[in-house]
Amino acid sequence: MGLYQDRKNINGKTQVPVWFMRQAGRYHDHYQNIRKNSDFVTMCKTPDLACEITMGPMREFNFDAAILFSDILYPLELFNMGLVYNPGPKMDMKLDSPDKLSMMKPAQSEDIYYKFQADALKLLKKELPTDKTLLGFVGAPFTLYTYAVEGGHAGNLTDSKNGFYDGRWQGFLEILMPSLIRNIEIQIEGGADGICLFDTAVGELDIHDFKEFPLAALKTVTKAIKAKFPNIPLTYYSKLTHIDYLREIQDDNLDVLGIDWRSNLPATLKELGSDYYIQGNIDPSHLHLPWELLEPKLARWWQTMEGSGCDLNKWIAGLGHGVLQHTPKENVKMTVEYIHKNFLY
Ligand code: CP3
Repeated sequence: MGLYQDRKNINGKTQVPVWFMRQAGRYHDHYQNIRKNSDFVTMCKTPDLACEITMGPMREFNFDAAILFSDILYPLELFNMGLVYNPGPKMDMKLDSPDKLSMMKPAQSEDIYYKFQADALKLLKKELPTDKTLLGFVGAPFTLYTYAVEGGHAGNLTDSKNGFYDGRWQGFLEILMPSLIRNIEIQIEGGADGICLFDTAVGELDIHDFKEFPLAALKTVTKAIKAKFPNIPLTYYSKLTHIDYLREIQDDNLDVLGIDWRSNLPATLKELGSDYYIQGNIDPSHLHLPWELLEPKLARWWQTMEGSGCDLNKWIAGLGHGVLQHTPKENVKMTVEYIHKNFLY
């Protein structure tokens, strides 16, 4: 499981491993060629396609981890919230008042509904070289809740925040949490070596709310999973948070924190590296620069990390968020190559 232990040794030095969120996606001609003939949901829900889409960037760019090609919003579809992609996600049913909670009824059992993810992971397990890590993922409870309430992640999430006090947050968790936990278990049983929980919306909250609401729910999930699968590393990615938030997480059941590019990476690794691996955190926009400008940024990144005195065994290189749609794929390729060649300690 090279992302964590058993990292590659290159001429007596250890290589920093690297993977990107959304490493399979619209910037990549491999994805676009499949997308020409299939809609996004079919691509996620057909295990052969999901496996092939996941493998595309692994073969071409040699990332150290594969992340299942899927999406975070399927738990809401399971509860009859009417998910469509056009091309961004839209929910038919919005949790805009507490009485809507009674409409959230599961269409199927989790084991039947999430079979597409389990089957894709089983195919990936066979296809993927053994030195690569296979990651599954879900949306963290708060980000799923904001999609349920707002139908998306736009604006300042005032209605989601109001919902903390009118029964929607509590009611949503009661319905969703057992199902979300089962979703993660199904991915692990399917062969995922690690699980990521993506909390893209959580940075909209102040620190007090962050502790009181999302973190409490997150800890319920991580505790349940660790009790059943103590050896499966769990990653929590939060966007738009910073060290004051990260410091408050204090979850012994989490193994990795993914951080966005606004956080100071060496300072975070120095302070929290004894508790977690830290993953990140270049700005995905930098991958749009011509190589003459991108290369010095990567070189400076490594110099900063190498000279920081941090425990680099606890660092996983990656983006501060996901690969953007118009990223030139050559830059993805050259960035991974550059990291593999130069980020050696
Ligand atoms: O390689 C990987 O990382 C796996 C792929 C992946 C997708 N979605 C595929 C996708 C992952 C990890 C996700 C997670 C996801 N989905 C998150 C959390 C992480 C993040 O990006 O913040 C969120 C918030 C979603 C919800 C979602 N799904 C959005 C906002 C969109 C629109 C994307 C956009 O940029 O417009 C989707 C659709 C989606 N999910 C696409 C892909 C490749 C694009 C679909 C298409 O039109 O082809």
